[in-house]
Amino acid sequence: MLLETPRLTLRELTDEDVPALHRALGDPVVMSAYEHGFELDETRAWVRRQRERYSTDGFGLWGVVLRETGELIGDCGITTQQIEDDSVIEVGYHLARDHWHQGYAVEAARNCVNWAFATLDVDAVYAKVRDTNLPSMNVAIRLGMTVRRRFITRYRDIDMPHLAFAVSRSTWMADEPRLQV
Ligand SMILES: CC(C)(COP(=O)(O)OP(=O)(O)OC[C@H]1O[C@@H](n2cnc3c(N)ncnc32)[C@H](O)[C@@H]1OP(=O)(O)O)[C@@H](O)C(=O)NCCC(=O)NCCS
Repeated sequence: MLLETPRLTLRELTDEDVPALHRALGDPVVMSAYEHGFELDETRAWVRRQRERYSTDGFGLWGVVLRETGELIGDCGITTQQIEDDSVIEVGYHLARDHWHQGYAVEAARNCVNWAFATLDVDAVYAKVRDTNLPSMNVAIRLGMTVRRRFITRYRDIDMPHLAFAVSRSTWMADEPRLQV
């Protein structure tokens, strides 16, 4: 799997990406929605989990690489997620802090949503966002998503209120040209 955007390449993560990805996932500020920066072993396990997803589902969180420099700056991709009793297709994104505010998340995520609608038989693509995570909400809004419901996720013994954002296939197909970066 390889996606090219004007400034980014999205490709499958490998074990060799662990140190670069850890610059994002090891940063407690980047991971504030999870309430802890990852230990290196947790980043290793995260990459292994994505590699399992690539082989079982055919998709997962992919590495986000700057085309100009080849630097891996985070992950973005499509996963299957549970929202209460529903299994949904979700776009997710985590970028190293020194690359925020340059439109990379929207650029990467938009291409992932395009990929999902082109490849998977789904009526909607979701983004699960913690109710305190304004940057992530703004990415979802820039993708044309609207908020659908509230739910609680329990993670590391903490109840975390979340919002489920989503864009339907029909809205995406109608709006996508307008939403171009
Ligand atoms: C969420 C995240 C990926 C956004 O990355 P980014 O590359 O800075 O986002 P973009 O530059 O594409 O900006 C997208 C929109 O979000 C807004 N935004 C970005 N950072 C913001 C912030 N700190 N506060 C409020 N809005 C913010 C931007 O202004 C932009 O909206 P606009 O175009 O209407 O101005 C990044 O903040 C991140 O890695 N956060 C930590 C990981 C995380 O929480 N992931 C989501 C888990 S659900």
